[in-house]
Amino acid sequence: MTTSAPSPLSARRGGPLSGRARVPGDKSISHRALILSAMTVGESTVAGLLEGEDVLNTAQAMRDLGARLTRGEDGVWRIHGVGVGGFAPPEKPLDFGNSGTGCRLVLGAVAGCPVKATFDGDASLRKRPMRRVLDPIVRMGARVISEAEGGRLPLTIEGARDAIPIEYESPVPSAQLKSAVLLAGLAAPGETIVIEAEASRDHTERMLKHFGAKIVSKPHGEHGRRIVLQGQPELEPANVVVPADPSSAAFPMVAALIVPGSELVLENVMMNPLRTGLFTTLREMGAKIETIATRDDGEEVADLRVVASKLKGVEVPPERAPAMIDEYPILAVAASFAEGTTRMRGLKELRVKESDRLEATAAMLRNNGVSVEIEGDDLIVHGKGMAQGGGEVATHMDHRIAMSALVMGLASNEPVRIDDGAFIATSFPGFVELMRSLGADLS
Ligand code: S3P
Repeated sequence: MTTSAPSPLSARRGGPLSGRARVPGDKSISHRALILSAMTVGESTVAGLLEGEDVLNTAQAMRDLGARLTRGEDGVWRIHGVGVGGFAPPEKPLDFGNSGTGCRLVLGAVAGCPVKATFDGDASLRKRPMRRVLDPIVRMGARVISEAEGGRLPLTIEGARDAIPIEYESPVPSAQLKSAVLLAGLAAPGETIVIEAEASRDHTERMLKHFGAKIVSKPHGEHGRRIVLQGQPELEPANVVVPADPSSAAFPMVAALIVPGSELVLENVMMNPLRTGLFTTLREMGAKIETIATRDDGEEVADLRVVASKLKGVEVPPERAPAMIDEYPILAVAASFAEGTTRMRGLKELRVKESDRLEATAAMLRNNGVSVEIEGDDLIVHGKGMAQGGGEVATHMDHRIAMSALVMGLASNEPVRIDDGAFIATSFPGFVELMRSLGADLS
């Protein structure tokens, strides 16, 4: 858990950004690679793991549940798993720090195992809803022994001795929720089925296949998916190579678009279509983002050339939200530097992220002289091609608000200051150094 003193940071306008950069590994894939390896008998390896605090907390949770994890000098992680249903009872509470993904996915994984475990996290995670995961895992046979008010952390569950397969229609477009049900379903005989009305990121489905599970995902309705998992598979150890996180690439990308004269190449960025909503939106706004090389290692990856661009306001449809759910704060920064109004629709889920991101994003812009409104679940930014800056931004223990505000400061008339940069390390260790190596003035 991050308890150190706050570390304020400021960003100010300087010369153009230039160079090549490889942002750290994808957070979603990193969590899943550790959890699935831990549920497999034998040795799996993970290269390019995101070694941010969120993922390191998941690694520790897997150790606490009996898996063996080591990191070689070459940076490759080796995981000796315990098999589906094989977790040992942890001796202390599992601490997920700031990470909703780690916590919710492991809730699902433990739900199919007859062990008792307590789940906890930092002050931000303790505010986030866990009921959404508890409801289906209770149907699958897990027991909630204790919980804080409103189904929140800290909570203790006991996993099912004989997990029950369910057909589950997800009430929210959440990959964490879907993944929790699928991970619990590994321990259940027969078919566990998840139906989502809006397709969310599908890394769990892809990786389950990679580890040898039988899982089929088909289109359902206009934007949805129906996913069928055969339970009780013999998962096979596998090697995972983690590509760069598009949600982290978003920060240097938008910085390059709004700082005049910039040109960057971002290497090895994962291009899973359920993650690239931001790139689509920025291109619609007039951003020059060119794909210069592509590869496919189970997930499509690309090198992207980004050139400073004149942006215009656009309407972002609600059905795109799952494919860019973490990118609205940085899109709102890009929208401030665009000419015209950008309306981002259907952002209800932003209210239950690491902070209430809808309010935190609006406050970030407002404090820096940008005209912004919240209408229901929509965020509306009136871009004037510039931002005054000069404001202090409250980050509310939210890494993405912190990085978005710093990017804003790189192009604003006055510097932008954040109250605390410590949480950046949850998803993007080395952010400040990487941005400085591209020419950013951060101090
Ligand atoms: C994630 C899913 C998203 C996202 C989070 C990572 C995942 O959350 O915001 O950063 O890895 O499954 P929801 O599932 O709550 O939308």
